[in-house]
Amino acid sequence: MIDLRSDTVTKPTEAMLDAMQSATFGDDSRDGDATVQKLEALAARKTGKDAAVYVPSGTMSNLVSLLAHGDRGGEVLLEATSHILTAELGGISNIAAMFYRGLPGRRGAMDLDALRDHIRPRITRNRLGTALVWMETTHNAAGGAVLPLTHLAEVQKLARENEVPVHIDGARIFNAAAALGVGAKEVAKHSDTVCFCVSKGLSAPIGSLVCGSLEFIERARGFRRMVGGNMRQAGPIAAAGIVALENMVERLPEDHRTAKRLAAGLHAIDASIIDPAAVETNLVRVSVRASGRQAAEWSADLKQRGVLVSPCATWELRFVTHRHIGDAEVDHALSAFADAWKQFGTADKRR
Ligand SMILES: Cc1ncc(COP(=O)(O)O)c(C=O)c1O
Repeated sequence: MIDLRSDTVTKPTEAMLDAMQSATFGDDSRDGDATVQKLEALAARKTGKDAAVYVPSGTMSNLVSLLAHGDRGGEVLLEATSHILTAELGGISNIAAMFYRGLPGRRGAMDLDALRDHIRPRITRNRLGTALVWMETTHNAAGGAVLPLTHLAEVQKLARENEVPVHIDGARIFNAAAALGVGAKEVAKHSDTVCFCVSKGLSAPIGSLVCGSLEFIERARGFRRMVGGNMRQAGPIAAAGIVALENMVERLPEDHRTAKRLAAGLHAIDASIIDPAAVETNLVRVSVRASGRQAAEWSADLKQRGVLVSPCATWELRFVTHRHIGDAEVDHALSAFADAWKQFGTADKRR
């Protein structure tokens, strides 16, 4: 099976397995664990923040960040298709008790006029104050789009003028940084707080980091416990996270290259499927609308042909490249897709 459903399917590397075996077994929630502390220090350094806290998942890193920003009842302004709104089960309001306003955007970048219209430093008689401005890069629903540094800077400027903090959901921040040709710090510097995952394209089995000021991270540690994210002997999984940050960031451009190759091949099968220019990182969103056959049917069919992809909307499939996808796997996926398109891509159009 060629698994293109997500970069979360990446297996730990040999170096990770070795590091896991020799990790410490301190109780992170009692006296602390040296390996977890090393990972947190490394995460803080990579993002240019003062401190970091290790949590089990990207969803929890976002939730804990919302709770730690702590303006319960305030409004969070964010682009309307952000992962926190579309795929994290409403934790933003159900658990963090924050109101939110999804703003229109282009390729994941919120419209700056809409932000200007809605941002306000404090509550007024008939409007909530803005508790937080939230950005996501790379942007999942926008097909791995990278928010330009100029956009991050403009959002940050507007937020600062209104005394509002900025958070970046950087689940794939290292992909964003690689595509921009800068370090993750250059992306993260446009936020007060940032979170990222080591469990996605970086190949660690588990874990995300929330990064910010010392005071913010202390608050985040409290909220991590509140939502059940305190871990005990987390040294072995943190050890894999350290290898992820030390060894696996450099190779991400390779995933971007294979994604672009995949997109070019799909475009050659039928130009309606994808605009290859839209692929900036390792996520490839594909439209099957022209076939008249829905994405769920396509993914079931491709599975029969040995290729796993995710249906992510009625007419859209998501292909994700990662460490286990090289040119041979891309060629196999393309040939399976071409065969299926020959069979169904045109047949259904005639109906
Ligand atoms: C942008 C973004 N944020 C957060 C998450 C949540 O991560 P997890 O699935 O580890 O909870 C994801 C997962 O794909 C994501 O793409």
